[in-house]
Amino acid sequence: MNPSFSSLGMRLQPPAIATLMNAALETPGVLSLAAGFTDSATLPVAEVGAAVVALAQRRGLPHHLQYGLNQGRPMLRELLAARTRQLDGGAPSQVAAEATIIGNGSQQLLYLAMQVLCDPGDIVLVERPTYFVFFEMLAGMGVRAVSLPVQADGTLDIAGIEVRLAELRASGDASRIKAVYVMSYFGNPSARSRTAGEKAALARVLAANDLLVPVLEDAAYRDLWFERPWPAPSVFAQPEWQAFPRMYLGTLTKPFATGLKTGYAHVSDASWLQRLLWLKGHHDFGSANFNQAVLETVLAGGDFDRHLGKLRVTYATKMKALSAALEEAGLRRLGWRWEEPAGGLYLWLEGPAGVDTAAGGSLWKACLAAGVLYVPGGLCLSDVPGARFARLSFGVLAPEALREAARRFAQGAAAIAPA
Ligand SMILES: Cc1ncc(COP(=O)(O)O)c(C=O)c1O
Repeated sequence: MNPSFSSLGMRLQPPAIATLMNAALETPGVLSLAAGFTDSATLPVAEVGAAVVALAQRRGLPHHLQYGLNQGRPMLRELLAARTRQLDGGAPSQVAAEATIIGNGSQQLLYLAMQVLCDPGDIVLVERPTYFVFFEMLAGMGVRAVSLPVQADGTLDIAGIEVRLAELRASGDASRIKAVYVMSYFGNPSARSRTAGEKAALARVLAANDLLVPVLEDAAYRDLWFERPWPAPSVFAQPEWQAFPRMYLGTLTKPFATGLKTGYAHVSDASWLQRLLWLKGHHDFGSANFNQAVLETVLAGGDFDRHLGKLRVTYATKMKALSAALEEAGLRRLGWRWEEPAGGLYLWLEGPAGVDTAAGGSLWKACLAAGVLYVPGGLCLSDVPGARFARLSFGVLAPEALREAARRFAQGAAAIAPA
């Protein structure tokens, strides 16, 4: 007999990522542009090896193989807070080690943050498009994602946001808005960044509508710029956000080693941080101490930044290889559009009118037949229409494989184009 599940257990659906991975496994020879993974060939093997040796010599490995603190290692938190303050141009901000929490990836911290803020039926405001795993998490919790309107060029449509908020007030839903989630630096999937002006305008429109709700700024890709860092300061350093409870999420997975699965958050509000820590105590009472010790060592010794310098060149080269190969394969002539991003791991493609990019749809089938996988854009959009977009990741594949995958994608797009 089946167990009787909770309402959360009943709401759970297979994660889209599992469906995409199964499609890859079931189709021999397929090249995946879907996974947002990093490039295994660039993983910091020598740097991690040297850090482990240094740890063994300094205090001895047993010390680091013991459980650590629920909140995370103090020195790692210190180093991360100093890094964020430096990225914000040394601007005065409340980013401090005591207000920082380490998690099993930033994903865990996003989950904990949503758990302590939202009940089923609540609303979280998100960008359009946004991180599809976050969507699925909200759906699992019975929480509604409502998109902030954007202009045709992807910038926030402040007048449109005003209208959306008025609609939510009129329907009696405004009081259910519990948080706003933004990705201001080379976001997933669009690789867009937000200007300081856009972010300030968003803060002003929320404040003007009495919505001083917690803001979560997910900066997962902030370190992965190609030529220069994105200049806008974080919500911790912008005066317009000072009255809001703020969480800034960063990660050490994408810019260093995904397998160490370590992320962090700076939290402006002491009561929010307290609850996050209590809930983290229920989850695991602390992320892997050893992984944190390794990261602390590479951050303090400079290996982290030296490695990141190399990664930036690798990803910029791979982005160019994918974009150029799509261009050469004639994708623009088929009516597809995209911009080359200035950082991150993704190209966000908009197909011509009438294209359906959904999993199982015509483009999906044509691409699988050609031997390539992508992330259907509809997964990243909370409302219709969204079926024309596709996310292509240049994270995993080597440049030559990226060029082949681009040719296959264009072949799929050509197969469904009207004659
Ligand atoms: C926007 C965004 N936030 C958070 C995460 C979670 O990353 P991690 O848990 O590896 O820190 C990801 C991973 O793909 C992401 O794309």
